[in-house]
Order: sequence, then structure tokens, then C-alpha cells
Amino acid sequence: MTAQQTTQLQDLPADLQKEFLPKHVAVIMDGNGRWAKRQGLPRIMGHKRGVDALKDLLRCCKDWGIEALTAYAFSTENWGRPQEEVDFLMTLFQRVLRQELREMVKENVQIKFVGNLQALPGALQAEISRSVEETQNNRGIRFTVATNYGGRQEILQACRAIAEKVQQGLLQPDEIDEGVFERHLYTSGTCDPDLLIRTSGEMRLSNFLLWQMAYSEIYITDTLWPDFNRQEFMRALSAYQCRDRRFGKV
Ligand code: IPE
Ligand code: IPE
Ligand code: MG
Repeated sequence: MTAQQTTQLQDLPADLQKEFLPKHVAVIMDGNGRWAKRQGLPRIMGHKRGVDALKDLLRCCKDWGIEALTAYAFSTENWGRPQEEVDFLMTLFQRVLRQELREMVKENVQIKFVGNLQALPGALQAEISRSVEETQNNRGIRFTVATNYGGRQEILQACRAIAEKVQQGLLQPDEIDEGVFERHLYTSGTCDPDLLIRTSGEMRLSNFLLWQMAYSEIYITDTLWPDFNRQEFMRALSAYQCRDRRFGKV
């Protein structure tokens, strides 16, 4: 074990057990707008502060040895928000990616994106491609950002791709099993989330990772996303460690 790894493990709070940590954490970062409203600020200020909360969570996951983090940044339904807010978010994603790329490369983060990326503004697509390319050989934490993501849309595009293969005679209908299906999802190659965290008290999935979360443990906190900090994450992990994951067995 290297000196650096020793330090990382020591950083794990004493009441968390390394061997029972989730391998993959997914998060629905909700409540930015309400956070801003409570401060008497415009909604966009909540999104700005939300970026800081995400950066802290990524660092925390990395320090504590969690292998993968997936964050829901923008849903296929979020296009229905006021144009001004949508434009702000697209510009914010682009700026944050540009600003954080060097740090992600240095910290050995491998960044991935899931969602219908072709529908995003060209400048954001370019920033996405650059960050994916420049971190593709990193073997530290896998950080996936769901952008213009919809679980139903993901399942539909997988069905279409599989149907085309069947039509071309490359695949037989009875060969379509869970493994084949998973390989056609955006998330192909990443294990399913063990733990889903949703902030702001909402108790719904909002079209997030519908296939992948069949057996994820769900943790909901009333804390609004910009206030979600290390302490809050520790609470979520402690709760997770008390769960009995039965997967349908006894
Ligand atoms: C989550 O916060 C961020 C995005 C969906 C982009 P919201 O913007 O949904 O905040 P609330 O739910 O309105 O408070
Ligand atoms: C889910 O939050 C999407 C993201 C966090 C990106 P929403 O705020 O859009 O979800 P609903 O509308 O409350 O279900
Ligand atoms: Mg919301």
C-alpha cells in the first residue's frame, strides 16, 4: 500500500467500515432552486452553489475509496424550464468542465457522460468530448454525469439498437438477455448503483437510471443539494451500512 493510499483510508470516519461501503453511489442533486429562494437569491445561484457541493462529494468519494459516482445534472424533462435557466445551466456545465479538467486529470478521475448528448449545445458537446478523451486512461474514481438523461429514453434507444441488430441478422431474439441489454445502455461497463441519494426530500426517481436501480438502496434527506456536505454524506453511508440487502432472498 502506498503512503497516499494509507492516508486516504485513515480519512474514512471511524464509524464507517471500508468493506461495507457502496462501490457505486448515484445522486439526484435536487433542491437548488428552493435553496436559492430561501436565501432570497435567484434560482441560478442555487445551481452555482450546487457545483461546489458536487465537487466536495466527488473528492469525498475519492478519498474514501468509493469506485464510482453518478450525478444527475440535467434530465430530459428539464428542457421544460424557463429558457433563461436552461441557458444558464448549459453555460455553467461548460464553464465548470473547462475549469475542472486539469484537476480531474491530476486526481486520476475518469469522467463519463450519459444521456442524449447530441441534443446539447455544440460548445458543451466539445467540452464533454475533450474531458472524456483527456481522462479516459485515468483509473481512479469513475465519475459519470447524467446530462440530458432520461431512463425511459435510454431503454428505448437500447431497444432500437438491439432491434436493428436482429433485423440485420446479427442477433437472435432468444439471445437477448440482461447482459446483452445492459451492453446497449449508456452505462455499459459500470456496475449498478448500490446506493441512491436524493436531496430535498422528494421521494421519486424522476426518470433516473430506471433499469440500473432495480436493487439500489434509496436514501432520502430533506437537506437541499447546496447544503449537502461531508457530514451529510457520512450519514447516508452510515444508513446504507445498516441496510440488509436481500436481493429477493431470505
Ligand atoms: C436540481 O435542483 C437541479 C436541476 C434539476 C438541474 P432544482 O433546480 O430542481 O431545485 P428545486 O427542486 O426547484 O428546488
Ligand atoms: C431531477 O430533479 C433532475 C435532476 C436533479 C437533474 P427535478 O427537480 O427535475 O425533478 P422533479 O421535477 O422534482 O421530479
Ligand atoms: Mg427539483
